[in-house]
Formats: sequence, C-alpha cells, structure tokens
Amino acid sequence: MEVLPLSRAFTLLEPGPVVLVTTNDGRTDNVMTITWTMVLDFAARFAITTGPWNHSYAALTDTRECVLAIPTADLIDTVVGIGTCTGRDTDKFERFGLTRARARHVRAPLISQCLANIEARVVDIVERHNIVVLEGVAAHIDSARRERRMLHAVGDGTFIIDGRTLDRKDAMRSKLPGGL
Ligand SMILES: Cc1cc2nc3c(=O)[nH]c(=O)nc-3n(C[C@H](O)[C@H](O)[C@H](O)COP(=O)(O)O)c2cc1C
Repeated sequence: MEVLPLSRAFTLLEPGPVVLVTTNDGRTDNVMTITWTMVLDFAARFAITTGPWNHSYAALTDTRECVLAIPTADLIDTVVGIGTCTGRDTDKFERFGLTRARARHVRAPLISQCLANIEARVVDIVERHNIVVLEGVAAHIDSARRERRMLHAVGDGTFIIDGRTLDRKDAMRSKLPGGL
C-alpha cells in the first residue's frame, strides 16, 4: 500500500462506505463491520457508532486505537461474515483469510485485501449516543487494486455498489480544501 496524504483520508469515508474496523487488545487482532460512520471535518476526524455489545469495543476503548479498512465490492461476503460473528470465540483473520500489514502508528493491523486503510486514535467517546470519535494519524491506499468500487449498506441486508462518478469540482471549488 502507498501512503495517502492524511488530508485526503476524509475522501475515503465521505461516500459512506461499509468499513472494517480492526483492533488489537494487546494479545489478539480482531475486526468488525461498521456502517454507521461520519466525517467530522476536512481533516482526518471521523465518528463511528458502536458500543459494548461488540467484543471489539473493549479493545477500542482500552487501547484507544484502531484501523478503518475500506473493503470493495468483491469482499461483500467477507464483510457480512465479519459482521455476523464475534471475536469472542472466533479468530476472524484466520476464518476469513485476511492478510495483515503492520500499521505505522497503532498496533491494530491494516488489512491488505482492502482498498485503503486509515490508522486512527480514539479522541472522544460520547457514551449517551454510542459515538466514538476518531482522529486519523496515517492513511494508506492500494493504487494498483483493480476492483475499487466501495460497498454501501442500505440497512436491510442489501448493499449498493459505487456507480458512475459525476465531476462537479469546478462548481464546488469554493467549498473544497486546496489541492483536491
Ligand atoms: C453490514 C453490517 C454493518 C454493521 N454495522 C455496524 C455498526 O455500524 N455499528 C455496530 O456497532 N455494529 C455494526 N455491525 C455489527 C458488528 O459488525 C457485529 O456485531 C460484529 O459481530 C462485532 O464483532 P466483534 O464482537 O468481534 O467486535 C454491522 C454488521 C454488519 C453485517
């Protein structure tokens, strides 16, 4: 994976893709599927909605670190599988044949099969709403990957794959950060 400037990391999450969140509790790696995500600003600040009902939550809140990995359409069954079993009793990296790559700033692993990975630290937890606020510290992208279409969950068990890209950059110039 190549380094993606951190200032571009929000463009990975702004389309609202399905995300895989990896954690490491000091002993084992784990991963869960998350679709409730939000970009908080043009810098690398994001929010996810999750809570103690997931095994990952303890590692997320204890280590205050994770990786947001962005899967593509070809990984749909892996994404659903990861989100329908738990690290309490399953080694999901083993079960789904996920390849780890070492992150630069956090212990949670990158997932090599994914299009992109964002290393992140937990900077706030809004317990009342189960919101975990993250700050990206590094981003990586696989520029050579052929399948690049992200997945979007409808919420009823169906998913939408990225379609056409419409370019309105000129019309939006006044609202875009420099360099985009
Ligand atoms: C498509 C999909 C989307 C999901 N989105 C979320 C989400 O946004 N927040 C959440 O807490 N759980 C979500 N889940 C459920 C977790 O991924 C699931 O509970 C998982 O088993 C947690 O793994 P863990 O116990 O190893 O942490 C989703 C599951 C699927 C299949």
